[in-house]
Parts: sequence; structure tokens; C-alpha cells
Amino acid sequence: MKKIAVLTSGGDAPGMNAAIRAVVRKAIYEGLEVVGIKQGYQGILERNFEAMTLGAVGDIIQRGGTKLYSARFPQFKEDAVQAEAISILREEGIDGLIVIGGDGSYRGAMSLTEKGFPCVGVPGTIDNDIPGTEYTIGFDTALNTVMYSIDKIRDTATSHENSFIVEVMGRDAGDIAVWAGVAAGAETVVIPEVDFDIDMVISRLQRSADRGKKHSIIIVAEGVMSGHTLANLLKEKAGIETRVSVLGHMQRGGSPTARDRVLASRFGARAVELLLEGKAGVAVGIRNHNLVDYDLPEAYESKHQADVSLYTLSEQLSI
Ligand code: F6P
Repeated sequence: MKKIAVLTSGGDAPGMNAAIRAVVRKAIYEGLEVVGIKQGYQGILERNFEAMTLGAVGDIIQRGGTKLYSARFPQFKEDAVQAEAISILREEGIDGLIVIGGDGSYRGAMSLTEKGFPCVGVPGTIDNDIPGTEYTIGFDTALNTVMYSIDKIRDTATSHENSFIVEVMGRDAGDIAVWAGVAAGAETVVIPEVDFDIDMVISRLQRSADRGKKHSIIIVAEGVMSGHTLANLLKEKAGIETRVSVLGHMQRGGSPTARDRVLASRFGARAVELLLEGKAGVAVGIRNHNLVDYDLPEAYESKHQADVSLYTLSEQLSI
């Protein structure tokens, strides 16, 4: 293996730049050439390539977003498109590809590997929803963003004695919601991993009100319903008034936390080692503080579940 490429795909996540830097620096350290592919898989077809030098990844470890841009590219599911991508990569003299992204990006990486082009996946998504790894790049930063946002919302909730619904991202996973619930001391958390029960939400709010508490924070994961839908349900069923705050894409931005930078650096460097060891069709991950690698399909053929013990804890601590 003499020349490898790296791309970021799917939703951007803080720490992707740190991962790109790690891939490039580790590869150069190992005597490899590195190419950055811009705009994800689409960039292969458009030959959107940049030779990566040590300096090309200077001053990016602290930046959110991705220097290589990202795109969702549904056409990459097609065999013909994948075959064309492989022939372009080969024409460029590229021997292996590191894909930083979520489960959709992993499917593309596995298809290329099955067609004979070695790929390694690095988990980059704020959703923390990739089976096989306990943490993904960007989750810790997004979680901190949500926590600090809720701290601010709580100031207003307390001052005006209002209840707030905070809608957070996470796609079908409740990780951001449940971790933020514990970290920000939310009174109620609604996540996809626990059956939704409007009566339970109402009784928690009423119990708080009965003991004289006039404000509450309810976090709802977008995978269950929107914040506005929940607000309407509370109003219709129990006449409860709430304010809604949808945090939206601000959760994807910002300078990565130390934890995300370190995780991304470890993942990126390990991905290069895996290609050099001749491994392909695998993803890097972290379990019990140790780096692991496992077959890419494990990441998208099983279903991720947020840690429901945190949900229970959040409930117990906000009685
Ligand atoms: O996967 C990251 C994520 O931010 C999800 O939490 C969210 O559901 C989705 O992407 C939003 O995607 P888009 O930016 O394409 O609207």
C-alpha cells in the first residue's frame, strides 16, 4: 500500500477534522501518500481530489465541520456508480480508502470492499448510533452544546416559571436526549428506546406542580416526535402550556471537545494501521476505553440502543 485516500460522508460532526488530520499525519509518518476526497463519495465521481501534506491539516484540530466537506449521495447505492468510483480511485493510484461517517457511509465502504477496493470506516456522527462502538466522533461535543443550551433555557424557565420542551437531534437514537437529560437535570426525557406515554409525561409535570415547582425541562428526541407535536399533545390532553425550543443544526457545529479530538485522533491513526495490516471492510470503535475493530456490516445490520439505564437514572433523580 503506497497511497490512501480519506473522505467524510453524511452529516458533519465536530472532530471530523481531527480525524482527517490524524489519518493524514499517521499515513505520512508511515511513508504513505494521502489524498483528500472532497464532498464524500460524490467527490470520487467528480474527481474532487486534493493531495494532502502535513501542512494541509495544520490548524484544523480545533475546528468544527469538515475540511473535506460532506455530502449525502444516495446514488452511491448503485453498483455501476460504485464500479466507476473504483476505477477512478485505481486510475489515481489509490490503494485504500478511509471513510469517516455514519452507518450509511459504512454501507458504501463495504460495497467498495466487496468489489475489491479496501476500505476502513471511522465512526463520525453526533448521533452516537453506530453499533459496535460506545462512542462516535462528535457525540461528546453535541452533548455539551445541548447541555449548555439547556442551562441557558433553564434560566428563562425559572425566571418566568415556564415549562420548556427542548427538541434534540439523534435521528432514531436517544443518546443525545438521555445523556443531556442526566447532564442538565431535565425533569422528563422522551426517547425512542422507551415507549412513549403521554400520561406519564403529564403526571410527572403535575407531580412537580403539586410540590410547588412551576417550571420544568422536557427533552424530546426527534426520533419520537417533534417538540411542537409534544407541546400540542400536552395542551390538548391536560391544558398544559409549554414553550418549545428546537436546537437544530447548532448541535452539529462548534469546536470539538478534548474528548472528541482525542477519540478522533485515535480512530484516524488506527484506521491507517488497519489498512497497512491488510484489513478491509472493518470499522474502528472504542469499547471499555480500548480501540477495537470489527466487520463493517455489524455496524449497520444490528440496531443501536441508547443506554436505558441513564433514562432510569434521569427519572430517579428528577422526582
Ligand atoms: O445524523 C446527524 C443528524 O444531524 C441527525 O441528528 C439529524 O436527524 C440529521 O442529521 C439531519 O440531517 P440534515 O442535516 O440532512 O437535515
